[in-house]
Amino acid sequence: MGDPVLYDKVRAVEWCDGTVRLLDQRVLPGTLRYEECRTAPEVAAAITAMVVRGAPAIGVTAAYGAVLAVSAAYARAPSDWRAASRVDLATLRASRPTAVNLAWALNVMDGVMATVGAGSPVPQVLAAARRLHDEDIAANRRMGALGAALLPPKARLLTHCNTGALATGGYGTALGVVRAAAATGGIAMVYADETRPWLQGARLTAWELVEEGLPVTVLADGAAAALLRLGDIAAVLVGADRIAANGDTANKIGTYGLAVSARHHGVPFYVVAPISTIDPATADGGGIPIEERAESEVLHCQGVAHSPALARAWNPVFDVTPASLITALITERGVVQRPDAEGIARLLASPIPV
Ligand code: MRU
Repeated sequence: MGDPVLYDKVRAVEWCDGTVRLLDQRVLPGTLRYEECRTAPEVAAAITAMVVRGAPAIGVTAAYGAVLAVSAAYARAPSDWRAASRVDLATLRASRPTAVNLAWALNVMDGVMATVGAGSPVPQVLAAARRLHDEDIAANRRMGALGAALLPPKARLLTHCNTGALATGGYGTALGVVRAAAATGGIAMVYADETRPWLQGARLTAWELVEEGLPVTVLADGAAAALLRLGDIAAVLVGADRIAANGDTANKIGTYGLAVSARHHGVPFYVVAPISTIDPATADGGGIPIEERAESEVLHCQGVAHSPALARAWNPVFDVTPASLITALITERGVVQRPDAEGIARLLASPIPV
């Protein structure tokens, strides 16, 4: 057997001897550094600070954070650990607003906590977090296979942000489709938007692909429309942070512009996301909370200001792509062509494949 590939070697998040071990994505690809979180507030702070990012990875991290919350609460108040864990769980829930996988994972954990019996709840809660993590990887594999089947062999693909092993429990959503396509029909090139201002594309997607020997070309976000105009891109593949009940999709800022441009140039625009990213309680994109981060993220680059001191910045970190611009939604339960409220409802009601 050869060397394990990157997505088997590197985990964005892991449970490690009573701590949550996070690969610090802020310093990749130059530095491989891990942060060990020993408490739930430390996990929440790491999510807010983008040590770990990407909707499914945030969900998995929050689930392990919940284990820390429960474990500390049981040590403090063995007979009333549910009440004692509430503040920590609320802190985790508030750590980032847009990625619904965070709330979804904590709801799964709440459900498990409601059913555990007498004695320490920690083993059962930890087993649930591990299960959630494993299921995310399995979902990614399934999406990879379903998505790859939609692509021609040797395709040139365009992607935005980072949706790979780093953004998920492992393997990736949109980048999982790229991986699966590379393993089957092969791919000619992956064009990766640099993804201002955190450069998830230039730093993280490019790193994942280079580490696996896959071809990658990084481009400035503003170059994507010109690339699509050249006519040689088979598909645009992106992930999602929250998909409303009607299919409107929040994802990294710049995704909406990419979808408009893909439609204009007749290029298929695929959203790849697990069922845990669908939020049936939010009717449409207008109801999705959009995180705004510090102005300094736009006005500075690696700590150095590049705008005049009096300039202001607008820094929404996600935008909403209307469902009407999405060619298909690829999930682990199946592909929804031209997603809309009916298609999403049918998907959610469909059986989970075994
Ligand atoms: O701000 P980030 O880096 O957490 O944003 C990540 C994205 O927008 C991803 O595209 C999305 O979470 C899907 S990751 C599989």
